[in-house]
Formats: sequence, structure tokens, C-alpha cells
Amino acid sequence: MTPPAVQFTATRELLDGRRVLLRRLGTDDAEAVAALHRNLSDYDRYLRFFTLSPVNSNELVSALLEPAVGQYALGAFDGDRLIGTANYKVAADPTVADIAMVVANEDHLCGVGTALLRSLAEIAETRGVRRFVADILADNHLMLKVASDFGWPGERSSQGAVCHLELDLPRCGPGASNAVI
Ligand SMILES: CC(C)(COP(=O)(O)OP(=O)(O)OC[C@H]1O[C@@H](n2cnc3c(N)ncnc32)[C@H](O)[C@@H]1OP(=O)(O)O)[C@@H](O)C(=O)NCCC(=O)NCCS
Repeated sequence: MTPPAVQFTATRELLDGRRVLLRRLGTDDAEAVAALHRNLSDYDRYLRFFTLSPVNSNELVSALLEPAVGQYALGAFDGDRLIGTANYKVAADPTVADIAMVVANEDHLCGVGTALLRSLAEIAETRGVRRFVADILADNHLMLKVASDFGWPGERSSQGAVCHLELDLPRCGPGASNAVI
């Protein structure tokens, strides 16, 4: 029987014509997830984790991949190479989920982040999540642009260098993601 950790799958065309596979990440993807994060530029690591220090890849991999209720991690694959991840974790209020994402530096600005966030929202919405929240560095113009380009209603508040983002997810309805969830 297929484990629930690998049920989502969809393909998306990037701005440069590449076709990427989006699928749910599972424990078999541990090395790919570790490699993606190991190869982040210092700046991207800072934007993602708010630190320039090396990230403990074991902790990161288990936090992202260990199956747990209310958590979901999606990966974008160019062939065998994992080029981006987006994940959510539901909060105390099960209709609200914290999100985080990262795309390999050489694959920025090709639409990977946009494709991941759109699909993650569709998946989350079918699982009862109504709002994504994220704390993003106010300097992270790219992430703020990716989030705002969808035009989803929400709020943005600044707390010093950090911007707290709240996004109300669109109601997708059955079959909206065109993929198995
Ligand atoms: C934020 C991040 C995930 C975005 O991923 P991405 O794959 O580069 O994003 P996309 O290519 O989907 O979208 C980039 C947007 O920037 C726009 N863009 C394109 N060229 C640009 C440029 N030179 N300058 C600014 N914006 C540009 C694109 O138009 C696109 O907007 P669109 O939705 O209108 O098409 C990625 O930059 C990243 O991994 N950053 C480091 C980690 C991080 O910041 N994570 C978020 C905090 S959790």
C-alpha cells in the first residue's frame, strides 16, 4: 500500500520551460532535503532561518519529514534533483498553519516558489486550513512578492526587522489541484 507521505503528485511548467514534479516529501527524501539545505547560500540561509550559522540538518530533516498530524512538506523535483520545498504546520487553531519554503539559489525566479506555495495552499485548504501565517524578514522582498502576487486577502504587520504575514486561502473545491492528495 502507498504510504500517505508520498500521495501528492503533480507536474508544473516553470518560466524557463522546465517541467518539475511536485510531490509530498517523505522520510526517503532525507538526503535530498539535507543536500538542498547544505547548498544554500549564506544569504538564503539567513532569509530562511534568520541565522548565518550552519543549520543542524538532522533536526531540520526530522522536523520536515517525520510524518505528523497537521504537518505537510511538499518538494519540487527537476529530474532527480530536489530544487525546493514548502511546508506547513498547523497551529493550536487547526484552521491556521505556519509555512516556510526554500528554493535552490540557481533555481530562483523561475516560478518554483510560486508553484510550491500554490499547491501547498490547495492541499492545506482540502485539509481544513483556512489561513497561512509566516514570519518573514522585512528585507525578503522576493518571498513577500511571491506571497502577495496571489492576491489572497490577508494582513501584514511589521515587528522590527520581521514581517508577520497572514494569508486567507482561497476555497479550492474538490479536484482543484488536479492531483491526488
Ligand atoms: C522566496 C523564495 C522561496 C522564492 O522562490 P522563487 O522560486 O525564486 O520564486 P518565484 O520564481 O516563484 O517568484 C519570484 C517572483 O519574483 C519576481 N521576479 C522575477 N525577477 C525578479 C527580480 N529580478 N527581482 C525581484 N523580483 C523578481 C517574479 O515575477 C516572481 O513573481 P511572479 O509571482 O509575479 O511571477 C526563494 O527566493 C528562496 O528560497 N529564498 C530563500 C529562503 C526564503 O527566503 N524563504 C522564505 C522564508 S520562509
